[in-house]
Formats: sequence, C-alpha cells, structure tokens
Amino acid sequence: MFLKTIVTVASLLAATVQGGYVGYPRPSIYSKSAHFSLKVNGTDMYTVSYAGYDYVQFSMDEGYDTEIIIEARDQASINSYTITPQALPIKARVDGKKLIFKMKKAHYLIVKINSMKEFVVGADPSETNVPKLGASNVFNVLDYKADNTGAAITAGVQAAIDAAAKRPGSIVYVPPGLYLVGNLVIRDRTSLYLAGGSVLRFTGKKSDYKVMYTKSDLGDGTWWISTDKDTTGIKIFGRGTIDGNGYNTRKNTGADKFMASMVVPAGTKDFHMDGVLVRDSSFWAVNVVQVQDSTFTNLKIFDRFDVTQDDGIDINESSNVKVRRVIAIANDDSFSAKTWPYKTGTTVPFPYQPRPNNKIWFDDCLAWTLCYAYKIGEGVWEEQSEITFQNSYVYYAGVGCGINHKYGSASARNITWQNIDIERLGGSPGGQAAWATLYVNFVKQGAGPIGPGILLKNIKARMKGKQRGLIQGYDASSTISDVTFTDIYMENSPNPATSFDALNMERTNFYSNINIKNTK
Ligand SMILES: *[C@@H]1O[C@H](CO)[C@@H](O)[C@H](O)[C@H]1NC(C)=O
Ligand SMILES: *[C@@H]1O[C@H](CO)[C@@H](O)[C@H](O)[C@H]1NC(C)=O
Ligand SMILES: *[C@@H]1O[C@H](CO)[C@@H](O)[C@H](O)[C@H]1NC(C)=O
Repeated sequence: MFLKTIVTVASLLAATVQGGYVGYPRPSIYSKSAHFSLKVNGTDMYTVSYAGYDYVQFSMDEGYDTEIIIEARDQASINSYTITPQALPIKARVDGKKLIFKMKKAHYLIVKINSMKEFVVGADPSETNVPKLGASNVFNVLDYKADNTGAAITAGVQAAIDAAAKRPGSIVYVPPGLYLVGNLVIRDRTSLYLAGGSVLRFTGKKSDYKVMYTKSDLGDGTWWISTDKDTTGIKIFGRGTIDGNGYNTRKNTGADKFMASMVVPAGTKDFHMDGVLVRDSSFWAVNVVQVQDSTFTNLKIFDRFDVTQDDGIDINESSNVKVRRVIAIANDDSFSAKTWPYKTGTTVPFPYQPRPNNKIWFDDCLAWTLCYAYKIGEGVWEEQSEITFQNSYVYYAGVGCGINHKYGSASARNITWQNIDIERLGGSPGGQAAWATLYVNFVKQGAGPIGPGILLKNIKARMKGKQRGLIQGYDASSTISDVTFTDIYMENSPNPATSFDALNMERTNFYSNINIKNTK
C-alpha cells in the first residue's frame, strides 16, 4: 500500500516535472559562431566557429517537447532551409531570421540556411553515470599537476592515468580547461572521463610525440591517444573535446612533417567510447585496431574539409564492434571498415598478426564527406564479413554506399546496407560518383572476391549521382557475386527501382547472380 502511493506520486511528478538541458562552456581557444545562435527552451547554448561549418553542442533530457531556436544572426531573413536528416519528424517554422522547431529526442542535425555555411547541431541525450570528483575511484588530473591553461605540454594526464591504473576500475577525471598533451596510453581497466568544457589538444609538434609508423605519402605518424594491448574494460567518455590540431599539424614540412590518428584503441576488448567530441584530425580520427566486443556511441567527429585523409571512423581487423549514434564529418571517408598487411606503413604498431574484420554494425549514423559515406575498403587484406550499415543518413558524399576492393586478395562478404537515406551526392572521389558502387579496383596489389551475401535494402537515393555505380569484378577468382538490391528508391520516386538502368548501376564484367528483388 505504502509502496503503491509512492509510485503514484512519482509518476504524477514525472508527468509535470520539466526536462533539463545543459550546455558546455566554450573552451577558451575557440570563438563563438559569427553566423548562428541556438537557444534550447530560451537559453543560449555555446556555439563554436569552425572551418567549413560552425557547430554547437549540448545535452538534453529526452521525451519532452523542447524548443530549439536557431537564429541566422547575419541574415535579414531565412528564405530557404533544410534540416538533415530530412527524414526526421521535425516540423520547423520560420519567423524572420529564426528557425523554430521542437525536438522530443536529441538528434545530430546539419542545418543549411540560405547560402550560408552549415550549422551542425550536436545534441546528445543527458549524460548518465557522471563520475563524482572526490569518490575514491576517481583520479582528478589536477591532483597530478596537469596544466589546465594550455600554457605548456603537460604530463599530468598520463600521470593520473598511471596512478589510476594501480587501482583497476578507476576513472581519470579531466575537468574543464585546455590541456596540451603528448601520447596518452590508457591502461587496463582504467577509464578517461572528459568533462564538458575540457579539451585535450595535440600540440602539432613532432618532437612532442613518439614516431610509431611512416606512411609513404604523409610521412611519420603517431597514435595520439591509444590503449595498452591485451587490455579490457577501458572507457573514454564524457562531453569534452579531443582536438587533433590537424590543420596546423599537416602544414609542417620537411623533417617536421607529422600526423596522428587521434583515438586508437588497439588490442583491447570490452572498450567503450561515448559522448566525446573529436575534431580536426590530421589523419584518421578514430581508428579501431584489432579490438573486440566494443562500442562507439554518441560521438561527434568534426574534421575539416581542407585536411585530406582525415577519415571519421575506421574499423581495422576487429570483431563484434558496434558504432551507434555517431556523426562523422570529414574530407575523407566518414565510416569505413578496412584490413591491411602485417607491419607495413601504418600497421607497424599493430599489436597482433593480421585478423579479419567481422561482425561490425554502424547504426543511426550521419555522414558528411567528400569521399565515401559507408564503405568497405580500400584494404581487403584479410576477410571482411558480416558488416552492416543501417538506419543511417548521408547529408553529402562522393559515394553513398560502396566497396572499393583495391588492396589485398581476401573476400568482402555478407555486407549489408539497409534503411539508408542519401540526400546529396557530388564530386567523384577516385573516379566514382554514385549512390552505390561495388568494384574490384586492380592496382597490382592483389584482387579478391566481393560476395556472396551483399545486400542493399530500403535505400533512398535522393540523387542518383553523376555516374553509374559499378558492379565490376577483376577476373574469374575476383568476381562480384550474389548481390541483392531490394526496395531502392531513386530520386524521390514513390516506387522502388525495377531495372539496373533505373538503379543507375552498370554491370561490366566478372559478376554473377546480381538481382533486384523488391518487396514493395
Ligand atoms: C522545455 O520546455 C517545455 C515547456 O515548458 C518543457 O515541457 C520541457 O521539459 C523543456 N525541455 C527541457 C529539455 O528542459
Ligand atoms: C586500416 O586499413 C587501411 C587500408 O584500408 C590502411 O590504409 C590502414 O593502414 C589501416 N589502419 C592502420 C591504423 O594501420
Ligand atoms: C552470408 O551470405 C550467404 C549467401 O547469401 C548466406 O547463405 C549466409 O547465410 C550468410 N552468412 C551469414 C553469417 O550471414
């Protein structure tokens, strides 16, 4: 009886209580957007001015009607706009230079107003499990003399990680502030929490880092933030920023030429990365290397379009990995899965012998890239199988969904793209310019089969692309086989395409069993 009363009161409260939301103080090195402001239920959030687009980040309780007002500050009025993903049930109205709408769920959005640069909204669900400073398993980096002013490179963050590692299960807490850090290695059963308003920044100076590999075209590189190998239970989480300072880093020349993958979990299991904003990578932003049973969720990867090879998230030689609710903006591929030969160039620091890439899911993602949005390749040195891209969106890409089997002789099989909405296509990365392309791209470094079990299902290609997508094998042992197209909607057609012509796909040679099987 007593319990029942409490439950009733609680649910009454729940019905009337308001949601909450929180913005994060703009780190001192960034400036406010000159073009946009954003209010959540009347409160201004912190915008950030950036190259190519501006952005804002905040968290909100879900399930309430929360009002968002975006103001195009330097425009007389809003004459045209789009809110991506266009498929979301967001109904906006324009009032002068304000765009007003309600969101019940937090979404990552790309807002295009008039001919202005884009405004990217990084709205997350409210944070849960925030570590408590003062708790016995929480190690504050400031207690390890970390410099939070960015005046000089600081060893305090690694010192806190090493101290925490002596008590497995501990969390290293990075409070708001600017931290210039060298290579960080996260230890077994240790977590790194980045509070909203904190920034870990790459210095851009080669001498501050360990050279771990050399890439033939880009020179020496490092894994900036990585894990020890043979570890388990490591987490990187919070609403802070990891800033690769990539544009400046890549400007270095001669002996100072340098680049870094920013976050590289390598040789680890049960790894989780959640909530963090990752920006301005000089090379692949998040590179998942020989990892098992891991998740990557609520990540905002904001790379620049004027830095090449800055892929969003690359999964190499890993198994049972889930990528969910991630936005990746980059010049190079947004989301891709790759395998590469042993101890060659970038794989020199790989902890183990080459492994297949298997059981990988990309779910509820948003891509904006000049290259491929959702891709397998270019390396297929080890088998890639059971990889699914689903419930995801493309704001803009050179190619929407694709396999570019360019290096290696292993197979890519059991690959699915389903429930994908491709809004815009442009450019022609590597000569391809299509909503989908599946081809063996022979450059004398191996060739291998694509298929069986390739499925493209329920895809909306609002643009068909400037060129036909290829279905092209290389020889009798490197064929494209067993590919099914199901319910592909081209250029806003209400009915799925029933011919390869309508799909704008071209079958050239060495292919078999390519089918269109619609259910609608
Ligand atoms: C925004 O305001 C509305 C109306 O007062 C309220 O119901 C909702 O909970 C608020 N949302 C958040 C996330 O605070
Ligand atoms: C991942 O695979 C790609 C090939 O597609 C390769 O270029 C890269 O070197 C691999 N990643 C790392 C960290 O080596
Ligand atoms: C891979 O695809 C083949 C051919 O479509 C299918 O028979 C097989 O069950 C699939 N395997 C897995 C693990 O999904």
